[in-house]
Amino acid sequence: MIDTGLTLETGRLILRVPQRADFEGWARLGRDAEAMRHLGGTKSAFEAWRHFLANVGSWRILGFGPFSVIRKADGQWIGRIGPLHPEGWPGDEIGWTLAREAWGCGYATEAATAAIDWAFASLGWTSIIHCIAPDNTASQAVAKRLGSTLQGVGRLPVPHDQDPIEIWGQTREEWFARRAARTV
Ligand SMILES: CC(C)(COP(=O)(O)OP(=O)(O)OC[C@H]1O[C@@H](n2cnc3c(N)ncnc32)[C@H](O)[C@@H]1OP(=O)(O)O)[C@@H](O)C(=O)NCCC(=O)NCCS
Repeated sequence: MIDTGLTLETGRLILRVPQRADFEGWARLGRDAEAMRHLGGTKSAFEAWRHFLANVGSWRILGFGPFSVIRKADGQWIGRIGPLHPEGWPGDEIGWTLAREAWGCGYATEAATAAIDWAFASLGWTSIIHCIAPDNTASQAVAKRLGSTLQGVGRLPVPHDQDPIEIWGQTREEWFARRAARTV
């Protein structure tokens, strides 16, 4: 059963289970063509709502999903980062999407680090992937900063099966070896 009070804390961020109040920021992010460039383009309010509830549903049914990322300094919702595994997905993913005003601050790497720690400790996952478009260099940079490497070409389930996707990732052992050496 979902623990709706679950929160993770980093130096500058709170990661928590999505709440109704997060939808406004979520919908605004969906309207941003630059942010949605590698995620199938802008989203109508209806599409954003359906996707938002799919993430809430992931938490409710699977006990995990992308966290809402809250910036401690001002309490703002700045994006969604964390574990996901929709039906037919090529693996256990840690994904990241931030509102544009939160890019270039290291927040994605900071939040993903906490989410990966939590996923490996709490979900029993033995490896993680990140599905990234070949020309999404900002996302590839996050993967590299986390120590993930390019594993090869991947395929998402229908209707996203024609989207060009590369799979990045690493194993649990690789992650904790890097954490022990404090290189993440
Ligand atoms: C992918 C995405 C999350 C990356 O965000 P990002 O802000 O570039 O990534 P990070 O949080 O790791 O930040 C790293 C940047 O912050 C800078 N930075 C500034 N202050 C920092 C700090 N205190 N600590 C660490 N990095 C800091 C780094 O120098 C780096 O900038 P650079 O790329 O110009 O060298 C963002 O571009 C995004 O949301 N894109 C749209 C959605 C998307 O495509 N998602 C991925 C789908 S696969």
